[in-house]
Amino acid sequence: MTRKKLIIGLVLVVCHCVVELEAQLQVGFYRSSCSLAEFIVKQEVRNGFITDNGVAAGLVRMHFHDCFVRGCDASVLIDTTPSNTAEKDSPANNPSLRGFEVIDNAKARIEALCQGVVSCADILAFAARDSFEITGGLGYDVPAGRRDGRISLATEASSNLPPPTFDVNQLTQTFSNKGLTQEEMVTLSGAHTIGRSHCTSFSNRLYNFNTTTSQDPSLDSLYAGQLKQQCPQGSTNPNQVVPMNPSSPTISDVSYYRDVLANRGLFTSDQTLLTNPKTRTEVIQNTQNPLIWRSKFAAAMVKMGQTGVLTGNAGDIRANCRVINS
Ligand code: HEM
Ligand SMILES: *[C@@H]1O[C@H](CO)[C@@H](O)[C@H](O)[C@H]1NC(C)=O
Repeated sequence: MTRKKLIIGLVLVVCHCVVELEAQLQVGFYRSSCSLAEFIVKQEVRNGFITDNGVAAGLVRMHFHDCFVRGCDASVLIDTTPSNTAEKDSPANNPSLRGFEVIDNAKARIEALCQGVVSCADILAFAARDSFEITGGLGYDVPAGRRDGRISLATEASSNLPPPTFDVNQLTQTFSNKGLTQEEMVTLSGAHTIGRSHCTSFSNRLYNFNTTTSQDPSLDSLYAGQLKQQCPQGSTNPNQVVPMNPSSPTISDVSYYRDVLANRGLFTSDQTLLTNPKTRTEVIQNTQNPLIWRSKFAAAMVKMGQTGVLTGNAGDIRANCRVINS
């Protein structure tokens, strides 16, 4: 063998290994074992969306909350039992997380067709993709083959999910802990272009910002006034909600970034993106390039969807997404 051929051979071997390491998950994983799986999920997202278009936002967020806590292993779907308070009952998820019934419906139909084959974690990853797509985002291929975990602890949701009070450095650190870049954090924050928020998630910015100032001066004062009407101080209703991106709360567009630029980001964690020169530039660029944001968002979702996944023989294929197999 000539030296050149040997080098080419070595390079091929090395590249092959790298590809194998990264390709734990595969697009079309259920092509032969349950070929209708992705189609059924898409149908159930559509059915859920017709009943309540808010489930799309709910499912995009649910995938994020799954992946950041013990990896994308459907731990967020497990119900609390007498002996365990599960992730979904952490204050970060209860009462705000929604869309569980869409996953249940898809799982029931898929189990009837191909029992014990398709994981709840994959169903959630597909549903998040379909939700982004149905709200006017981009459809993208979802690598699959995730397995379902057996542990779900409310305390881990509280410690791994970023609160809305975080500043840009804290957010960057939280995402970096999960292998995501600061730019991916800015890109994924664009999910706040759809959905709603409970008043309790931002009322500190209206009424008790800090010891000297009651209202967050970085929040547009006209918008703050509107929010105060929708979220009266000391309101006894913990279920009171407002739309996240009032101009188009059901459409995955770049108007979230326009809101942020106009000091109308709802959370400190949105507004703080203007305080760092790099993230500020990214916010501005996203307002100017909606198509690029969509494809960056799709790519970042695929990457987030690989966080800490269980594959091969690890974990389970849960029979019921709410219950650990006995
Ligand atoms: C950057 C850090 C983030 C923080 C601090 C944050 C915080 C929050 C909070 C407090 C809410 C309101 C929940 C409520 O009170 O009802 C919310 C809603 C939402 N978040 Fe995030 N989030 C972040 C990143 C993300 C990411 C990465 C995604 C998805 C890729 C996402 C998707 C959503 C969606 C779609 C909603 C609306 C949910 C609904 O309408 O049911 N968020 N977020
Ligand atoms: C309260 O917030 C305002 C506006 O950001 C700031 O100027 C002030 O220093 C803060 N006060 C305290 C005690 O942190």
